[in-house]
Amino acid sequence: MGKAKALAHIPLLLLHLLILFYFISATSLRPYPIPIILSVLDFGAVGNGVNYDTAAIQSAINHCPTGGPCYIKFPAPGKYLTATVFLKSGVVLDVEPGATILGGTKLEDYPKESSRWYVVLAENASDVGIRGGGVVDGQAMKFVVRKDPRKNVMVSWNQTGACLGDECRPRLVGFLGCKNVIVSDITLHEPAYWCLHLVRSEDISIEDVSIYGDFNIPNNDGIDIEDSNKTVINRCHIDTGDDAICPKTSTGPLYNLTVTNCWIRTKSSAIKLGSASWFDFKHLLFDNITIVDSHRGLGFQIRDGGNVSDIVYSNINIRTRYYEPLWWGRAEPIYVTSCPRDSTSKEGTISDLLFINITANSENGIFLSGSRRGLLRNLRFINMNLTYRRWTKYPGGLIDYRPGCQELVKHNTAGMMMEHIEGLEVKNVEMRWSNQHSGQWNNPLEFRPSTVNNISFLNFHSGLYMSRK
Ligand SMILES: *[C@@H]1O[C@H](CO)[C@@H](O)[C@H](O)[C@H]1NC(C)=O
Ligand SMILES: *[C@@H]1O[C@H](CO)[C@@H](O)[C@H](O)[C@H]1NC(C)=O
Ligand SMILES: *[C@@H]1O[C@H](CO)[C@@H](O)[C@H](O)[C@H]1NC(C)=O
Ligand SMILES: *[C@@H]1O[C@H](CO)[C@@H](O)[C@H](O)[C@H]1NC(C)=O
Ligand SMILES: *[C@@H]1O[C@H](CO)[C@@H](O)[C@H](O)[C@H]1NC(C)=O
Ligand SMILES: *[C@@H]1O[C@H](CO)[C@@H](O)[C@H](O)[C@H]1NC(C)=O
Ligand SMILES: *[C@@H]1O[C@H](CO)[C@@H](O)[C@H](O)[C@H]1NC(C)=O
Ligand SMILES: *[C@@H]1O[C@H](CO)[C@@H](O)[C@H](O)[C@H]1NC(C)=O
Ligand SMILES: *[C@@H]1O[C@H](CO)[C@@H](O)[C@H](O)[C@H]1NC(C)=O
Repeated sequence: MGKAKALAHIPLLLLHLLILFYFISATSLRPYPIPIILSVLDFGAVGNGVNYDTAAIQSAINHCPTGGPCYIKFPAPGKYLTATVFLKSGVVLDVEPGATILGGTKLEDYPKESSRWYVVLAENASDVGIRGGGVVDGQAMKFVVRKDPRKNVMVSWNQTGACLGDECRPRLVGFLGCKNVIVSDITLHEPAYWCLHLVRSEDISIEDVSIYGDFNIPNNDGIDIEDSNKTVINRCHIDTGDDAICPKTSTGPLYNLTVTNCWIRTKSSAIKLGSASWFDFKHLLFDNITIVDSHRGLGFQIRDGGNVSDIVYSNINIRTRYYEPLWWGRAEPIYVTSCPRDSTSKEGTISDLLFINITANSENGIFLSGSRRGLLRNLRFINMNLTYRRWTKYPGGLIDYRPGCQELVKHNTAGMMMEHIEGLEVKNVEMRWSNQHSGQWNNPLEFRPSTVNNISFLNFHSGLYMSRK
């Protein structure tokens, strides 16, 4: 193996020199620079998964010309153990199939400020990314203090004072304040905390990305998009414990997110807006998405005064079920809520939502709940087949307002529960109920004793169906 690797390296090195030479001689003549390709092996990386390759990787990055374009190759086979890797403008990590960037598991592997705890981090950079068919691995299992099939107990680095609570763990990949971000053809494996985090960034393309998080680890979100504009996510595969695709607003609004052709399984929400929702969410589109065995399908947890509008969900297949209630979610295929997080919070409105071509097989109904000053406005449900039945042993009978608000409230569930809504159109919707549990719940529509104005039902039908069993 070693010999073959060494031999394979000579032509590669020559190629790099050639490209370098070509770049140097041609750069002054050409409007578009030829990309530089640098291998971390040429900078002393060993890739044995035991010795840290941090210095080699960073040195390769630092040898990239200002502004790039520059690809940093991680050749296969190899496990490149590293402390935080800092990207700069023009640098794209190119992790070959069979190669892995392995995140360090020690506090000293990460910067001082917890806001910068990532295995791979780009700050205020443009034209940056990761690609190549390989893996970035957060070694999450090394952060587990105690395994628990309900929810693992995790390490928290809060004792240093860098952060508080039990969520002090490093994220996997972060782009903060970046422009032109490309994450493509890469597997993100076992993040210790959030996986792929985009913050205050713009023009983001995420394609052919697979995310695998442990199903019992809390907070291992898939993709968190925060305060960012013009994001396109296409062909993703996400199988993780916590929220899979999670737009948030903390310091600024979020506009123009498109998510298409994805497959999702999670013990929390497949798609969730919030709960951080201080600014507006506008013009989001989700199309052709398959959601299996998740605790919640399409969710809105608006809690902090930001307004949501112009959101489309089309061609979506949802299967939701109950899990341990320690995890947010109550098997709702669709969950749209706006309420003040606590007594100091503002209420945000949610308006102009379209759900079209939706199929759901679920253990619970749809929950639509605005609040007095946080109305749900102009919701449309068109072409939907909803099938309700129970197949897990977890008890139902709870309405879930978490986080904050009224928390968990005992109440029988309904096919569609509605409160504080102004404008609702339901068209071509078929609601079917399993005969097995008809004695327990088959209440198709419930209007809570609060405003529900301007509603229309056209071609809506609800009834029992005879299960094959
Ligand atoms: C990135 O830009 C923000 C906003 O200008 C600034 O606060 C932050 O210090 C910058 N970060 C780095 C690492 O330069
Ligand atoms: C630190 O995290 C642990 C859980 O790992 C938690 O029990 C403890 O309360 C946290 N301490 C602080 C100061 O937040
Ligand atoms: C996103 O667009 C909005 C509206 O134009 C703007 O206020 C905000 O600063 C933009 N955010 C970023 C990160 O570019
Ligand atoms: C969002 O997209 C719309 C329509 O394509 C465009 O007019 C608007 O400028 C975009 N806004 C941002 C902040 O990207
Ligand atoms: C929908 O997405 C799946 C991947 O999840 C893909 O295989 C399929 O071709 C897509 N369908 C359409 C109509 O694009
Ligand atoms: C949300 O809309 C309300 C009513 O129009 C407005 O008062 C409030 O400022 C908006 N919130 C944000 C964060 O812009
Ligand atoms: C719902 O079921 C009907 C009858 O089986 C079918 O014609 C229709 O296409 C289905 N709609 C969706 C959105 O799957
Ligand atoms: C909904 O499904 C119908 C029938 O399959 C299709 O013609 C229509 O284009 C779909 N609508 C959207 C918005 O995808
Ligand atoms: C009633 O709701 C529909 C959509 O559900 C909306 O298009 C219409 O403008 C609303 N009418 C009034 C008078 O609010």
